[in-house]
Amino acid sequence: MGRKRRKKRIVLEKIEIYGLAEKGRGVGRDEEGKIVFVERVIPGDVVDVQVLKKKESYFEGYPLTFHTYSDLRIEPFCEHFGVCGGCTLQFMAYENQISFKEDHVKQVFQRIGKITAEETLPILPAEETQFYRNKLEFTFSNKRWLTKEEIEQGVSNLDDVLGFHRRGAFDKIVDINKCHLQTDPSNEIRLSAKEFAKELGLSFFDVRGMEGIMRHILVRTTTLNQSMIIISFFKNEKELIGQLLDKILEKIPAISSVFYCINEKQNDFILDLPMIHYAGQEWIEEKLRAVTFRIGPKSFFQTNTKQAVRLFEVVEKFADLKGTENVYDLYTGIGSIALFLAENCKQVVGIEEVASAIDDAKLNCELNGIENAIFYAGDVKDILSQEFIDKHDKPDVLITDPPRAGMHPKVVKLLLELKAPVLVYVSCNPATQARDIKLLSEVYKLDKMQAVDMFPHTHHIENVALLSLK
Ligand SMILES: C[S@@+](CC[C@H](N)C(=O)[O-])C[C@H]1O[C@@H](n2cnc3c(N)ncnc32)[C@H](O)[C@@H]1O
Repeated sequence: MGRKRRKKRIVLEKIEIYGLAEKGRGVGRDEEGKIVFVERVIPGDVVDVQVLKKKESYFEGYPLTFHTYSDLRIEPFCEHFGVCGGCTLQFMAYENQISFKEDHVKQVFQRIGKITAEETLPILPAEETQFYRNKLEFTFSNKRWLTKEEIEQGVSNLDDVLGFHRRGAFDKIVDINKCHLQTDPSNEIRLSAKEFAKELGLSFFDVRGMEGIMRHILVRTTTLNQSMIIISFFKNEKELIGQLLDKILEKIPAISSVFYCINEKQNDFILDLPMIHYAGQEWIEEKLRAVTFRIGPKSFFQTNTKQAVRLFEVVEKFADLKGTENVYDLYTGIGSIALFLAENCKQVVGIEEVASAIDDAKLNCELNGIENAIFYAGDVKDILSQEFIDKHDKPDVLITDPPRAGMHPKVVKLLLELKAPVLVYVSCNPATQARDIKLLSEVYKLDKMQAVDMFPHTHHIENVALLSLK
């Protein structure tokens, strides 16, 4: 029998955590000064670190033993903290989370962009740090994620559960009793769906064996107290599905819209599947200040409604519209920013690659009686051509809100040629934003920045930058 070569187990002792880095991981240094990234720690903790990855310039690992617990630590409010993969900064007071995020954006701009804004406005914290999400998706599974203690006690993981994936474990689910991320009736919906599915003998999905009926439930809620559920099933057991949905509706009549879909694929993606409307309205409605948005089962919508308004208000303040401007809104999604700003400018032109989002944008435009917004479906890098600019005139204000990867180099090049007098760059990833702004700094200068916290207790951060021509 051949011998397996085991990798050497490296443990770094007494690492003092002095900062937080990308993805909310703690940072320390070993005795030779090499960077050590550590999960689930905060500045002030002193820990022995089990190394998982060793690179030339850094280590990555998790805490094995705590020698000192940081004074910044607080008691997490959620019973699932540490087991569930979400809300990883919950053991730090909110004001400390906020100052970490603020510093992080500045550092990223200095490190990657080699640039500092002339003015950096204080980060806008969230007014509500719990129950702020309007959308959550929970997974049904016949295997529960077990804690280390449960494994040691020999507890079986065969259990029908409904909750969140543990990071890195695709086949096991953390059973959630109460989640602090979404307002009611979210928790009640999840618990009822689980209870009634069990009662009706609907089996929970086994993702390895590809068997079982119940796959996912997506819950959307709005500040107008409307809610939508979409349940995905592996097989079309029509009668049982009807019984389950009726039971849920009977228990929670406040649900305004019920859809389901049949997902027989290997993957969990449901947006490419037909949505079957079962009860209630075919959409729910949300309001961002004066604009009403109709949200269908496949529509994209900003996940934190209240902070979305604050974010868009920063964009509005930076854009400083007088009513005469021609505005471009690149990566417009369902036109949220475009429609939010439409009443304050002459015209707004939105571009988005997802065709159904543009259908929503047009519908919402009509619904709100907005007549000065035009939307195009397609890749920004293909649509934003000289011909397009000739057709719609040069923008006075250009807003760009790309996905995490930032803008395509071709788009950056176009913006350099376009020389828009005012450019507002919204980003959920300061690293790619800093990279793009560095490239744009050939022509534009960075006047202002303001970060907005859309996702308390997570490392995520939204940042808005105002650029003008040099
Ligand atoms: C961060 S979201 C911004 C959405 C919108 N501004 C909002 O606030 O609701 C980025 C959007 O860019 C779209 N997108 C991604 N790549 C694109 C591309 N190459 N061209 C056009 N749109 C794209 C995504 O579908 C998504 O709707």
